Amino acid sequence: MSKAAVISTGKYVPEKILTNEDLEKMVDTSDEWITTRTGIKERRIVSDGETNSTLACNAARDALSEAGMDPRDIDMIIVATFTPDRYLAATACKVQDMLGAVNSGAVDLAAACTGYVYGLSMAAGYVATGIAENILVIGSEVLSRFTNWKDRNTCVLFGDGAGAMLIGPSQGKHELEDFVLKSDGSGWELLSIPGGGSENPPSLESVSTDLHAIHMNGREIFKFAVSKLEWLIREAARLQGVEPTEIDKVVPHQVNYRIVKSACARLGMEPERFFLNLEKYGNTSGASIPLAFDEALDAGFIEDGDIVVLPGFGGGLTYGMASVRW
Ligand code: ACO
Repeated sequence: MSKAAVISTGKYVPEKILTNEDLEKMVDTSDEWITTRTGIKERRIVSDGETNSTLACNAARDALSEAGMDPRDIDMIIVATFTPDRYLAATACKVQDMLGAVNSGAVDLAAACTGYVYGLSMAAGYVATGIAENILVIGSEVLSRFTNWKDRNTCVLFGDGAGAMLIGPSQGKHELEDFVLKSDGSGWELLSIPGGGSENPPSLESVSTDLHAIHMNGREIFKFAVSKLEWLIREAARLQGVEPTEIDKVVPHQVNYRIVKSACARLGMEPERFFLNLEKYGNTSGASIPLAFDEALDAGFIEDGDIVVLPGFGGGLTYGMASVRW
């Protein structure tokens, strides 16, 4: 069985910036409230003509160019997202066409903020079994088009963006090591888009009652996120045969700096081991881990030999982690 490794990474964010000060003019909020409760200062928002697939495609091109890989050599494209261009057909198929990856399979993956971790595990499985060799795992979200811009409880939290990794057979470096994949379906209602599916098909009423926007119980999600982030890092350490304090780096799903602070206090870990870029982008759900990972590499935050843990948690309620030895 071949081990899978990260061959290259890429990212793309829209140019348009929406600051906390801009939000002050839209809803009853303040820069002070958003900053102290979340750590977010601004987020990127798509412009007319930009969609999930254009973001995903740009992030994928960035990763392909770093690897010097011809798109025709890609065997599989996985797009982790809950904000696809359309429910039918998969955004991954459109990305395949835009890239000219004519020899590739293509599939979308719906596991909300844990989608990217699930996507990496699928890619590792494809490599290990020989089903596919060169796999693009993309996390891409256009949350701004599923946000109720009148709801201050949610609209300050989210942003748009995309990140990508090219996964392939290991050449001895940057190997994907362990995975944990979990879900607690009893929390299914705590974070969802109630409208648009077969339960509540689109109707005048579903639109007028904002059923097509993200609905969230923030307090419950906060508690879930803190406890699962702690548990996932303990699991990552157990699988590596080390103490949590011996985990070199963590690139978590980017939600809220207070979630990281609370988990660190419980684990006895220094917050400096966690890479955060949520100040610039907010919560970009399935895109947040690869977007942060790409920036963590660029910043020199991840060093050769580091064991890096990528924990995700969100709607479902899904949670899971991947670890990579850099
Ligand atoms: N501006 C000003 N006041 C606000 C805002 C806002 N944007 N949003 C809520 N408030 C008010 C509330 O109405 C409430 O007022 P009240 O006491 O008069 O009712 C007050 O602030 C406190 O609200 P809480 O919900 O208790 O605030 P809390 O400290 O829990 O912070 C937050 C809320 C930031 C949403 C927090 O619960 C959180 O981070 N939860 C995680 C949710 C999340 O990020 N989800 C993203 C998707 S899930 C994921 O990725 C894991």
